[in-house]
Amino acid sequence: MFNQKEKATRADYELWRAGQDGTVTRIATDPDRLAFHVEPELGWLNDPNGLIQVGDTYHIYHQYDPFDAAHGGATLWNHLVTKDFATYENCGPVLFPDSDIDSSGAYSGSAFMHDGSIHLFYTGNVKRFDRNDYDYVLAGREQNQIHMVIDNPYELGEKRIAVGPRDYPDDISTHVRDPKILGHDGIYYMVLGARTKDDRGCVLVYTSSDLEAWQYSTRIELGEKFGYMWECPDLFELDGELVLVCCPQGVPAEGWRYRNPHQCVWFRVKADWSASTFELVEEGKPSMVDAGFDFYAPQTFEDNGGRRLMIGWAGCPDATALNPTAGRGWQCALTVPRELTMREGKLCQWPACELESLRGEVVRVNAGEYIENPGRLFDVVVSCQGTRALELAIRKGVFLRYVDGMLTLDMGKEGYGRDERSVEVGELRDLRILSDTTLFEVFANTGEVVLTSRTYSPAVPTMELQSAAVASMEFYRLAR
Ligand code: FRU
Repeated sequence: MFNQKEKATRADYELWRAGQDGTVTRIATDPDRLAFHVEPELGWLNDPNGLIQVGDTYHIYHQYDPFDAAHGGATLWNHLVTKDFATYENCGPVLFPDSDIDSSGAYSGSAFMHDGSIHLFYTGNVKRFDRNDYDYVLAGREQNQIHMVIDNPYELGEKRIAVGPRDYPDDISTHVRDPKILGHDGIYYMVLGARTKDDRGCVLVYTSSDLEAWQYSTRIELGEKFGYMWECPDLFELDGELVLVCCPQGVPAEGWRYRNPHQCVWFRVKADWSASTFELVEEGKPSMVDAGFDFYAPQTFEDNGGRRLMIGWAGCPDATALNPTAGRGWQCALTVPRELTMREGKLCQWPACELESLRGEVVRVNAGEYIENPGRLFDVVVSCQGTRALELAIRKGVFLRYVDGMLTLDMGKEGYGRDERSVEVGELRDLRILSDTTLFEVFANTGEVVLTSRTYSPAVPTMELQSAAVASMEFYRLAR
């Protein structure tokens, strides 16, 4: 009943949801539910959307298909709130594909605070079904960038097209989406992910002086083709640099890089603010944001304390890595919020400090010693400067290994399509592993390199730190 061909209204959803209490209760008690990550109460979740802090409350929206864990239903925005990034209140869906301008999905978007009002921008996906020969790339689709001005983040407002198909450059296909806003010196910049008619990914930049009227200004692209479509662009200032994060699709693997079906990379950007033009620095050398199996479509925002926080989707489109929970009615999650900093030209990520409130008492061990019965919920910090080799089992058959400058995540035999990933880290000084029941995030060298992955492997009976030189580990059990 719910699919891209039909609109889905709040009333349709509520009627359907009223029959789902049994499923929701069964899912809620499943041992593989996550303890401190956002995941859907049922169905499918993808990109984080509309991240914003209002007063002491963080509002987190995300792409949500409650109707089908395999994402064959309709795309809504779900809404959660948190004050501490450890516990979340699920406020339920707020944005529905219920109008002619977003009938095939309320796709990704972002929030921007201006003069006390929240400006939400998102993509209304419209697919036509009046013919059967559309390719949905050059024809049969419209993507509208929709603007809503709201005073109450629990209740969304009137939908109005801010930028639509008539406003796109002539060489751009029907794929244009995921608006994100950057304000600089009283001018607003909207970045949009796009695919050209000849299948090259790029970012379109529109400018506005009032967030209402937008003019196409320029595009950000690479000289060489780098994928056919760039999704979810995010342009932001960080520690004196301008950074573009985006998700290119269709990039061929290169050694250990770009092994996932689709990528998430970042670029350093140089702006000429007076001309509203942007150029990729160093001929656009891309760096991977996360070297794990399950990471895509992150979004950043600045909170009231001035932190730049990033939340990603711990998943990937067209994934070959599967989640067995899909068969039990749900899949996918968001990463923990990560504070971003720029250190020596590296984009570093570190779990928001609030997550430390989940820690129990610390147990300290040295290389060669064990943690008995570590379970699946832990936060581990390893100090290992000077070691040439190190190994730590984080689940049965799941190992982190460091040898001669390379960090390897070996998922063993039970990775559901996840096998092995290696990434160059140079000298390994430290490692942090933040582990939830079935999702873990690894931060190497204080967040210079990050790997996010799901695992459905059981806990190890003992966790031993093996190292070729002196190393130590702080182990914290985490509260559920
Ligand atoms: C990225 C993405 C976005 C789109 C949304 C639809 O995962 O494909 O480009 O807006 O998901 O759910």
